[in-house]
Amino acid sequence: MDRPDQTTHFGFRDVPLGDKQTLVNEVFHSVAQRYDLMNDLMSGGLHRVWKNLMINALNPPRGDAPFALLDVAGGTGDIAFRAAGTAGAGFRATVCDINSDMLEVGRGRAASRHLDDRVSFVEGNAEALAFPDRSFDAYTIAFGIRNVPRIDLALAEAYRVLKPGGRFLCLEFSTVDMPGLDRIYDLFSFKVIPPLGRAVTGDADSYQYLVESIRKFPKPSAFVEMMRAAGFCRASWQGFSGGIVALHSGWRL
Ligand SMILES: C[S@@+](CC[C@H](N)C(=O)[O-])C[C@H]1O[C@@H](n2cnc3c(N)ncnc32)[C@H](O)[C@@H]1O
Repeated sequence: MDRPDQTTHFGFRDVPLGDKQTLVNEVFHSVAQRYDLMNDLMSGGLHRVWKNLMINALNPPRGDAPFALLDVAGGTGDIAFRAAGTAGAGFRATVCDINSDMLEVGRGRAASRHLDDRVSFVEGNAEALAFPDRSFDAYTIAFGIRNVPRIDLALAEAYRVLKPGGRFLCLEFSTVDMPGLDRIYDLFSFKVIPPLGRAVTGDADSYQYLVESIRKFPKPSAFVEMMRAAGFCRASWQGFSGGIVALHSGWRL
């Protein structure tokens, strides 16, 4: 139960804990229609490489063996579609996201790729998943968890819904650790991304939140500790692109 005086951060702003989700939802309602285009423009297409690295780590079975993936904060379906592209006939993905506009874009994309029989879209909150215990072989969350107000609850839910032997993978923006790149990255983040967001989506504030929220997310070593506290075994992480993103991995054993 939250205390009424509890606060958290929304980007660089301190806000009441109970207000953060509403503010996050406004961001993704506002950008949903142009979300995928903005990802390509902001990252120069690199987000595709990072997501493929996550799918390589997930390594879903290529054959007929059943494999159930839950992709939380899955938005417009990118992770589920990429996994379905490499997996065999037994693969099914459930994309769960709190935002109906993001899911609507995802459903349209699934239909146009003829993937609607293998990928389903469900509205739900990462902090309180409406799925039974031990029901998924893998849980992925890409660029999502830093938006969730109570990350410890989301991790506990991830653990709960995974089958024993199930894999948790979290792709998230991280801390640039390459001298020189850090200054260029900061300059690009704060001077280019919000104006680009204004030009493409008409909304600079949402992209200002994006770059600020990245700076507030825990360092990979601290996030791995949170995963261990939630019960995950063999928790580890790997940085990509000079630390711009990190892939965190853990197992429910
Ligand atoms: C940056 S997008 C990532 C979408 C997708 N995973 C990708 O990589 O393209 C973040 C997503 O997190 C979702 N989100 C935010 N808070 C959430 C919550 N508490 N539970 C589920 N999804 C949430 C947003 O609606 C949004 O679709």
